[in-house]
Amino acid sequence: MCGIVGYIGYEQAGPFLLDGLEKLEYRGYDSAGVCLNNGSELVVKKAKGKLEVLKKMTENGSTLSGTVGIGHTRWATHGEPSDVNAHPHLSESGRFAVVHNGIIENYQQLKEYLTAKGIEFRSMTDTEVIAQLIEYYYKGNLIDTVIKVLGKLEGSYALGVISKENPDEIIAVRKESPLIIGLGENENFIASDVTAILSKTRTIYRLENNEIAILNRDGVKIINTDKDEVIKQTETVEWDVSAAEKGGYEHFMFKEIMEQPKAIRDTISPRINNGRVILDEIKLTPEEIKQFNRINIIACGSAYHVGVVAKYIFEKMLRIPVEADLASEFRYRDPIINDKVLTIVISQSGETADTKEAMKEAQRRGSHVISIVNVVGSAIAIESDDVIYTWAGPETSVATTKAYSTQLAVIYLIALYFGDILGTIVSDEYSALVEKLEQLPDKVTEILDNKEKIQYLASKYFNSKDIFFIGRNIDYALSLEGSLKLKEISYIHSEAYAAGELKHGTISLIEQGTPVIALVTHEELIGKIVSNIEEVKTRGAEVMCIACDDHPEIANIAQTVFIPKVCDMLLPSLAVVPLQLFAYYVASLKGCDIDKPRNLAKSVTVE
Ligand code: G6P
Repeated sequence: MCGIVGYIGYEQAGPFLLDGLEKLEYRGYDSAGVCLNNGSELVVKKAKGKLEVLKKMTENGSTLSGTVGIGHTRWATHGEPSDVNAHPHLSESGRFAVVHNGIIENYQQLKEYLTAKGIEFRSMTDTEVIAQLIEYYYKGNLIDTVIKVLGKLEGSYALGVISKENPDEIIAVRKESPLIIGLGENENFIASDVTAILSKTRTIYRLENNEIAILNRDGVKIINTDKDEVIKQTETVEWDVSAAEKGGYEHFMFKEIMEQPKAIRDTISPRINNGRVILDEIKLTPEEIKQFNRINIIACGSAYHVGVVAKYIFEKMLRIPVEADLASEFRYRDPIINDKVLTIVISQSGETADTKEAMKEAQRRGSHVISIVNVVGSAIAIESDDVIYTWAGPETSVATTKAYSTQLAVIYLIALYFGDILGTIVSDEYSALVEKLEQLPDKVTEILDNKEKIQYLASKYFNSKDIFFIGRNIDYALSLEGSLKLKEISYIHSEAYAAGELKHGTISLIEQGTPVIALVTHEELIGKIVSNIEEVKTRGAEVMCIACDDHPEIANIAQTVFIPKVCDMLLPSLAVVPLQLFAYYVASLKGCDIDKPRNLAKSVTVE
């Protein structure tokens, strides 16, 4: 979703702003713009489409003069993607400029109020009301004005504000949308996330709700809406700069697929000691854990698919009922939840609006929340009762791969930790599972080393109109992810079906040559899924299977990609890899914009 970047210092701001926006491209956007104070006025350059257009327009920012400026990549909500709706937005006289991430829910009333006062709006956006309100209320003190305007706004926002009158200041505010402040030597920054400023500094403040940062060239002051100073600790970002760059790979997605063994190892290793799973992050006592009568998992997108896998794993291993819920559904259905229900929230970004609100809903109803989050210090991480970080490192491709895999790894750790406490996993089984878990990264490497077969299969199917995925049990949960991965980056229509459900509808869509990807890894149900494969083959489907290498006979039924056999619980981590690679190769052969698929955003900060 929208990305914000800002610079104040002694250097020319333009090149940094363009570079920062490039780093934020992965968030998803459809237009981009910058505004600089050139010493006498605010100059805005903005354009619909890829950042490339703005880069050409400004020669990578070099034609923009000024040492203070703000930039933005916009993911359209109010008003179509267009030059005029792109940010930054200026007030009527051009004295104030605003970039905004989030949604102003009462913008229509505010717009009507200002229009009645004779103010003319240029865009269809909710953001423009902020710039216009600032000018309307401005009486000579920008901070006072911004605080007054905040009092009028309902909704979520991260804001960057500059003005012609105050050429030595950027004002930044956050409420529900992420924003960080970077601290440099004689230069300071704002950004939606650290990747945008890593080339300049690793020292940051994370703004919290309703905190206002006043940035000058030589320092940053943070206040609250009562103008009291807020004393905050700085954080040092550990992420490696190269981790946020492509490092010789053509696409971030491929790089991130290849990084999975390391990401899984980094997530698991610190939490296993002498064959025991240590989850110090969970503050619940064993007695409290035993009190729960249900586990409720809340997430969106691929993180939700991890939740569906977790449902199968937890129910089997912990013998406790589990619900996996889409956050956007959960929060509005008056969920039955209380202090006897443990909630697990899964989110790579830790900022997904629906997931965050659903989490708060669960907390309001008394549920203890454990979050599984990748971005350190993000809203969900901070606001949950316990957080277990995935150590995937920065994930840039919109289509998640290594975050998904590390989330799964945490699910296994929780299963083992809880299973031990609840007594549902006996000691021999526990030790064997821990040992196999530690071997998992090497097994993933084995699959990555044999990716050519998947590349070949992708070359057979990349022209398909529809591709179906089928599976049973955990294989079904995985097929959801395989299908999503494919459709989001290759734009091929795809559906995932519980194989047993096929004949209740979807089988009517199978015709001569329709590709069907069948997951055949779940030992107990191999016979059943093989029957389903025969059913679709009989109707003309071209089937490709993912199966374990202890079942070579599957190759007699259909072309098969084999993965190493491990225990059922851990198989999803292996079976998902060929699905990621398949989606990647298909999209690559189709020439799609793999890291930035159309209309999608990495961090979905609006509901
Ligand atoms: C977007 C991303 C997905 C992600 C989902 C949830 O749709 O493109 O990859 O799974 O949001 O995001 P989260 O950050 O909460 O995991």
